[in-house]
Amino acid sequence: MKKPNMKNARLRGKEEVSYVNYDKQFDKFGKNKHYYVRTYGCQMNEHDSEKICGMLQSVGYTPCDDVNNADIVILNTCAIRENAHDKVFGFLGVLKHIKDTTNPNLLVGICGCMAQEEVVVDEILKKYKYVDFVCGTHNLDNLLSIIKSKIETNNMQVEVLSVEGDIVENIPVIRESKYSAWVDIIYGCDKFCTYCIVPYTRGSQRSRKKEDIINEVKVLKDTGYKEVTLLGQNVNAYGKDLYDDYNLANLLSDVSDTGIDRIRFVTSHPWDFTEEMVDIIASRDNIMPYIHLPLQSGSNRILKLMNRRYTKEEYLKLYNSIRTKVKDSSITTDIIVGFPGETEEDFNETLDLVNKCKFDGAFTFAFSPRENTPAALMKETVSEEVKMDRLHRLNEVVNKYSNNNNSKMNGKVVKCLVTSLSDKDKTKVCGYTENMKLVNIKGSKDLIGKIVDVKITDTKSFSMDGEYCK
Ligand code: 5AD
Ligand code: SF4
Repeated sequence: MKKPNMKNARLRGKEEVSYVNYDKQFDKFGKNKHYYVRTYGCQMNEHDSEKICGMLQSVGYTPCDDVNNADIVILNTCAIRENAHDKVFGFLGVLKHIKDTTNPNLLVGICGCMAQEEVVVDEILKKYKYVDFVCGTHNLDNLLSIIKSKIETNNMQVEVLSVEGDIVENIPVIRESKYSAWVDIIYGCDKFCTYCIVPYTRGSQRSRKKEDIINEVKVLKDTGYKEVTLLGQNVNAYGKDLYDDYNLANLLSDVSDTGIDRIRFVTSHPWDFTEEMVDIIASRDNIMPYIHLPLQSGSNRILKLMNRRYTKEEYLKLYNSIRTKVKDSSITTDIIVGFPGETEEDFNETLDLVNKCKFDGAFTFAFSPRENTPAALMKETVSEEVKMDRLHRLNEVVNKYSNNNNSKMNGKVVKCLVTSLSDKDKTKVCGYTENMKLVNIKGSKDLIGKIVDVKITDTKSFSMDGEYCK
């Protein structure tokens, strides 16, 4: 058993990262069996789940949509806020019921960020003994060995490394979409924002080699993909740990040169976002004019307590530069309310910044203390009631600007990558504009997978309607 240790996770040094190739061979031990994977949290997890599916299918497992028909269920978990934990523990209850009643042989496994938390693993060992295996984020490539050991020994398997392992290339992957693909560029995070658990659960910043990324994009383009989204907790730090003179601006430029139709990237950190990067985004037609730029707070005092490393003035300068240079850009953000010590005045400064920036959208969160992060040791000063009230007031302002910005697109003809049938109305299709607005489109399903002109006919806060222009 290898359990996580948060102290060791913090004590990490600047170890050399090894780049290795996935070349594990197994017999088809999943033949005639079904798997079900449930994903919580961010896009990194979405992409890790594509690798989990890839590995499972490589040994013969086939997917199913109903847990009741599954032989193995894997929860790819998120640790960012307490409600993410609650959802996972809630679903574990459902799985226990299935094991107790209809399928005692069901295998249940936990991967992802919760697996990296010492408290969670201790709780699983004590209270959730029916969990069959736990596999951490740093050794996901070892998943099949862990499952095989469970099957062969019938003992609970826990394998979680406290310090990151190698960067493993070519893990089998089954992608969700045939048109739009996630591409990892940097793992982990070294920013240590005081509220955030990610530097502990995802380890230190490690960049993939530029050749591996560019080759992956070329292969995706050759197999018909129209869009790639470059992924990392802080993509703007790309290359810092690996190269002296190659950064995200250089990578964007090289990925752009592959000629793939659309390039996106998430998530950005204002501290590492240089003017050189803004300029390359502005100058290339296939780099999409959409930037997710977390603000977190509009109060310099709170930003400092959060260890965000920028002031609201610096944020605004970068923000305005992007808005000025990148044509028709849209910018979204993340904001936390109720951080320890946040006063009404601090909160009003956040509202003030939202009024200045007029974001296209914002993900807003109530502060949730995460065990072992510095902010969890700060005295909480904002009651749940006040947090909810601030969240509500913030959302009203945020929605007003989403609405206003979207309504400016009414009547325009814009390019959309059509990705699927519309969730709301199966007679329509849906897709995303270059600046990442979701459009429900009147048009046939033959449009799926194509980039087409769409006339916007109506707009709301979170989506718009449009018609295919022939
Ligand atoms: N409490 C509330 N929100 C958080 N986030 C990260 N950690 C916490 C926390 N402890 C939010 C941040 C981040 C987004 C992914 O989640 O806004 O940008
Ligand atoms: Fe967490 Fe801050 Fe790193 Fe983002 S930049 S993952 S908020 S520590």
